[in-house]
Amino acid sequence: MTGTTKPARKRRMALLAASALIAGALGAGGMMQGTAVAAPACTVDYKVVNDWGNGFTASVTVTNNAASALSNWKVEWDYAGNQKAGSGWNATVAQSGAHVTVTAPSWNSTLSSGGSANFGFNGTYSGSNPAPSTFKLNGTTCNVDSGDPGDPGDPGDPGDPGTPGNRVDNPYAGAKLYVNPDWSAQARRSGGAAIANQPTAVWLDRISAITSGSAGENSMGLRDHLDAALAQGATALQMVTYNLPGRDCAALASQGELGPTEIDKYKRQFIDPIAAILSDPKYASLRIINVVEIDSLPNLITNVGSRPTATANCDTMLANGNYVKGVGYALAKLGAIPNVYNYIDIGHHGWLGWDDNFAPTAKLLYQAATSEGSTVNNVAGFAANVANYGALKEPHFTINDSVNGTSVRQSKWVDWNRYVDEQSYAQAFREEAVKAGFRSDVGVIIDTSRNGWGGPNRPSAPAAKTSLDAFVDGSRVDRRIHTGNWCNQAGAGLGERPKAAPAPGIDAYAWIKPPGESDGASEDIPNEEGKKADQMCDPDYGGNARNGNSKSGALDGAPLSGHWFQAQFEELLRNAYPPIN
Ligand code: GLC
Repeated sequence: MTGTTKPARKRRMALLAASALIAGALGAGGMMQGTAVAAPACTVDYKVVNDWGNGFTASVTVTNNAASALSNWKVEWDYAGNQKAGSGWNATVAQSGAHVTVTAPSWNSTLSSGGSANFGFNGTYSGSNPAPSTFKLNGTTCNVDSGDPGDPGDPGDPGDPGTPGNRVDNPYAGAKLYVNPDWSAQARRSGGAAIANQPTAVWLDRISAITSGSAGENSMGLRDHLDAALAQGATALQMVTYNLPGRDCAALASQGELGPTEIDKYKRQFIDPIAAILSDPKYASLRIINVVEIDSLPNLITNVGSRPTATANCDTMLANGNYVKGVGYALAKLGAIPNVYNYIDIGHHGWLGWDDNFAPTAKLLYQAATSEGSTVNNVAGFAANVANYGALKEPHFTINDSVNGTSVRQSKWVDWNRYVDEQSYAQAFREEAVKAGFRSDVGVIIDTSRNGWGGPNRPSAPAAKTSLDAFVDGSRVDRRIHTGNWCNQAGAGLGERPKAAPAPGIDAYAWIKPPGESDGASEDIPNEEGKKADQMCDPDYGGNARNGNSKSGALDGAPLSGHWFQAQFEELLRNAYPPIN
């Protein structure tokens, strides 16, 4: 601050202090009529973003126009109709008679000078639903935003991302995707300059990642990424929310910081603060593509109960309901932000492609998407193969092939699965999800960051049909030992480069798992992230029921999940398919 602006600022502060005194003298809720304040110190933008005749969703943005910050902000209004505001998000909404009082959440209680807060709620009414005409912020009457052009967030303004009801069908279509500078720099200095400009997802894998970067060498928090996205001129950013209570119940590699019962901490300290940041009007021009909680709901289908694949931790998470609640809450809260596009994880074909798993998964996802106040309108689609290695398309055989009259479904590799690759699985799952109650315009993202399977071992033609297994094993480009293998796979390569709308029902091929980041540690490495060594990351391990008791196929010497694994990155570059020019 320069010497010349200082006195001016002091004077303004003095004037505001005097008005505050007058307001105080009038008592709580005193109108400031008669005081010499040129412009109201606040603006309220109250929008009904959805109205279904006897109920509605409102989104309210309050801006502090005063020169100083305001702590413990509180917004009030009176309804002229018989509206009843229900409980809200990003603030506490309470109503007595026609009077509504909204108080700040503890994690966002201060409104800086020029700063805004956004909150929302669902309400009911009968008759008409007029917007309130007067609002107060901590007792001071505010300007009512009339929807003037230039006010970001109003319909039709530049950068208006639309309301929940009119999101674009495919957020990848026509979008310029954000390139994560942390990953990009790491890839560049690790010999990957040719692919360092590809967009990858930002992983929010623990509470501290919201403010200070994710696992491993990453340094940027969520706001840093959003600001960098705006600076890049990006129109879409991909992120992953990954911090459920009791995370990674069927493995050890990505167990997290929250214990199985810590659902409230997940809501208040993880999802709520993320929602507060994403709803900043500054970011309204970005389509925020959010992949929700990898592996969680699929684990509740296959790794529970009397199945030989069951684990005690997955049984616990099924019984306490905290995966379903957490996903429902994340969808409700983040889906209330009009420019957020949620995609729920659907594992991959080698996990859920069997009849026992497929339709039950669609039903469980529907249950989660309609829990905790969420509706299917909060779901843009599904994410397949995240951080996995399933081939996008098997070019040399399909599920309908047979050898001497025996279906490939009976081969050891396919083992009665209905699918042999990710694209056919993703397209079929989309249909099943619509049958289960999801919107008909849902689409699927397929993570193609590490499912390329090029290099010298890639078959270039179908194998001879000397026997069923010889045909399938000699034809398949997925060179894993078993489709249940998931940790740092030897022989894998980078897959299709990110691409929007590549096939019917597919919103994008996307690099959700940042190539080069480990899936898990081969040996114990002390850490504060809750992660442990996982035998599936040890090449000498003989396997378990979840991978047909096969070798793990993992590269040796891996660091903790999420941390940079140079040897794997080089493997991925070498075996890229399509190859890197
Ligand atoms: C793993 C890690 C997580 C990391 C992610 C992306 O799931 O557990 O910390 O962010 O991979 O590499």
